[in-house]
Amino acid sequence: MKFTCTKLALLSIIIFISIFPQTCISFDIDSSFLQCFSLALKNSTSTSKVIHTQNSSSYTPLLQFSQRNHRFLNSSVPKPNLIVTPNELFQIQTTIICSKKQGLQIRVRSGGHDYEGLSYVSNVPFLIIDLTNLRSITIDIKEENAWIQSGATLGELYYAIANKSNVHGFPAGSCPTVGIGGHFSGGGFGTIFRKYGLASDNVIDAQIVDVNGKILNRKMMGENLFWAIRGGGGSSFGVITAWKVKLVNVPSVVTVFNIPKSLEQNATTLFMKWQIIANKLPNELFLHSVMGLDAKSSSDGGKTVAVSFTGLYLGKQKNLVPLMENNFAELNLQHDNCTEMCWIQSVLYFAGYSINGSLKVLLQRNKTSTSFKAKSDYVTKPIPMSGLEGLWNMLLEEKNPTLIMSPYGGRMSEISESETPFPHRNGIIYGIQYLVDWDSNEETPKHMDWIRKLYAYMTPYVSMCPRLAYMNYRDLDIGVNRENTSYEEAKSWGMKYFKSNFERLAQVKNEIDPSNFFRHEQSIPPLSA
Ligand SMILES: Cc1cc2nc3c(=O)[nH]c(=O)nc-3n(C[C@H](O)[C@H](O)[C@H](O)COP(=O)(O)OP(=O)(O)OC[C@H]3O[C@@H](n4cnc5c(N)ncnc54)[C@H](O)[C@@H]3O)c2cc1C
Ligand SMILES: *[C@@H]1O[C@H](CO)[C@@H](O)[C@H](O)[C@H]1NC(C)=O
Ligand SMILES: *[C@@H]1O[C@H](CO)[C@@H](O)[C@H](O)[C@H]1NC(C)=O
Ligand SMILES: *[C@@H]1O[C@H](CO)[C@@H](O)[C@H](O)[C@H]1NC(C)=O
Ligand SMILES: *[C@@H]1O[C@H](CO)[C@@H](O)[C@H](O)[C@H]1NC(C)=O
Ligand SMILES: *[C@@H]1O[C@H](CO)[C@@H](O)[C@H](O)[C@H]1NC(C)=O
Ligand SMILES: *[C@@H]1O[C@H](CO)[C@@H](O)[C@H](O)[C@H]1NC(C)=O
Ligand SMILES: *[C@@H]1O[C@H](CO)[C@@H](O)[C@H](O)[C@H]1NC(C)=O
Ligand SMILES: *[C@@H]1O[C@H](CO)[C@@H](O)[C@H](O)[C@H]1NC(C)=O
Ligand SMILES: *[C@@H]1O[C@H](CO)[C@@H](O)[C@H](O)[C@H]1NC(C)=O
Repeated sequence: MKFTCTKLALLSIIIFISIFPQTCISFDIDSSFLQCFSLALKNSTSTSKVIHTQNSSSYTPLLQFSQRNHRFLNSSVPKPNLIVTPNELFQIQTTIICSKKQGLQIRVRSGGHDYEGLSYVSNVPFLIIDLTNLRSITIDIKEENAWIQSGATLGELYYAIANKSNVHGFPAGSCPTVGIGGHFSGGGFGTIFRKYGLASDNVIDAQIVDVNGKILNRKMMGENLFWAIRGGGGSSFGVITAWKVKLVNVPSVVTVFNIPKSLEQNATTLFMKWQIIANKLPNELFLHSVMGLDAKSSSDGGKTVAVSFTGLYLGKQKNLVPLMENNFAELNLQHDNCTEMCWIQSVLYFAGYSINGSLKVLLQRNKTSTSFKAKSDYVTKPIPMSGLEGLWNMLLEEKNPTLIMSPYGGRMSEISESETPFPHRNGIIYGIQYLVDWDSNEETPKHMDWIRKLYAYMTPYVSMCPRLAYMNYRDLDIGVNRENTSYEEAKSWGMKYFKSNFERLAQVKNEIDPSNFFRHEQSIPPLSA
């Protein structure tokens, strides 16, 4: 095992190994950690409420509570020695200091949506800092801003805004259970990002606990680190505990529509047209397309590819219908196809909830999950018809494939590539998310093979040199991911997520955490300038 220990811990490990091989190694680290923690806090905290050992009855429910990908529920997946659920910042400071002392790695978890489970799985002895108890949200409508703790979810944020105003919103993702901590630090886009940019583009201050246990705000951390955590991923730099954001204005009436088309209903030609117009539409109109399979309307029991064109317009239907007629007449959007609502109802709509139901559903964190694998791409020139035909054949090979095509342009094109670590700006027509999910982990290899084959198939049609990817759709397939990856090796994925911002991220990492304490399979390696 490769982890460092203090002299004392090392001694007792050696003694224990001879009697109880394996299991007691982790027992020893755990009790040393507990001792360090309670000594540091001079017993001011009831340690057992904040630290959950593998013995605690709270351990397994807590571990699984926000584990969004069941691929990592498999019993052979390594589990944390401890889970820490801080209520106060000093408990995070102490956890960092004691983890360093005891040679435990830290994984930070906010909403637990990491696609590769990196917030709760590691191959070395580790603990999880789960921020679920640090989730307060303070909205200031007069100043049009908010302080949000990292353990809150997007749903909680949207709910809190709607509680104060129906003409304010925030540009972030569609899934209410996604955590603020991972989402904001990796970018974060949703249905109003063509108008207002990413969640991270709207961050104006933040609070982080660094590798020395110091609490820093924007002024204290300096502009380099503040730049890095707005898109570079938080987990390489420390524990980000809170974010201050600008709220944005939304009209009191917005309009939503969804037009599904199968191949038999000309989905291919409609999608060809969509590729030409989607990123050039006015910023107020978000029109994404979602590909999947549908039962054939003819009764031969077969399946067909279907493409849904789903839109959110920041305005009224009477303005939307002519706008669509001028830009995308082929879709034939009618008044009957549109629903006017307030912005928070559109949040429910895109989350798959009834728009007339209670907003309280946005507060639920216990949505059921499945096993899944996802990958991402960026498209800079329309995919030709021949490429789409092959894609349809690939989709028909899989039981439950989903491709989500999100149009860029608008505000996204106005922000320079180096403004934040998120580099996918001008020149991107749309981003693709490939997604496949399944119920039983016995099927895992089959679906993993399929999505990798699909990714290989798409190579000629998407961005290249580097082939770009979205960091919040983390994908361990796209590069070298050892614990100790060197800067040169890490470029394999680093250039895909960050383009040339990767070098600056590695320099910031060297300033804030030169010993590379905060690390995982795709953390930024330190690079001396
Ligand atoms: C169902 C689903 C829907 C999604 N929808 C969207 C969408 O609409 N738009 C979009 O842009 N993305 C979307 N995503 C991707 C999502 O933005 C990322 O997975 C995001 O990183 C999740 O954040 P989290 O806090 O929930 O995840 P976690 O697993 O808790 O964290 C993700 C990563 O960030 C690190 N991290 C988390 N919190 C902190 C912190 N406080 N300090 C330092 N590091 C931290 C973790 O260690 C881990 O490396 C979706 C994901 C899922 C599973
Ligand atoms: C305080 O913490 C120490 C170290 O873990 C422990 O030995 C002691 O029993 C604790 N005292 C109380 C009152 O909890
Ligand atoms: C876990 O339980 C075992 C057996 O009951 C006990 O010996 C051990 O001290 C406990 N470990 C911790 C870290 O509490
Ligand atoms: C806002 O929340 C408070 C406290 O939960 C509640 O009493 C109030 O009715 C809510 N207001 C709106 C407009 O939702
Ligand atoms: C759109 O509206 C037209 C006219 O009412 C209707 O025929 C059509 O079925 C609607 N399409 C969808 C997808 O609802
Ligand atoms: C499909 O497109 C063709 C040519 O553009 C057109 O003739 C035909 O009516 C369309 N079919 C449907 C179902 O819309
Ligand atoms: C929601 O409520 C409105 C107004 O009461 C009604 O017209 C509409 O049909 C409802 N929509 C849904 C999806 O239930
Ligand atoms: C989640 O919790 C809510 C309320 O606590 C409950 O009504 C709902 O059924 C739960 N959902 C799932 C999927 O467990
Ligand atoms: C569990 O995970 C291991 C390694 O990650 C893998 O080899 C094994 O096939 C998985 N088992 C199941 C049932 O998914
Ligand atoms: C990383 O670790 C592996 C295995 O532990 C080792 O073989 C390799 O040399 C190390 N690489 C670097 C760059 O330190």
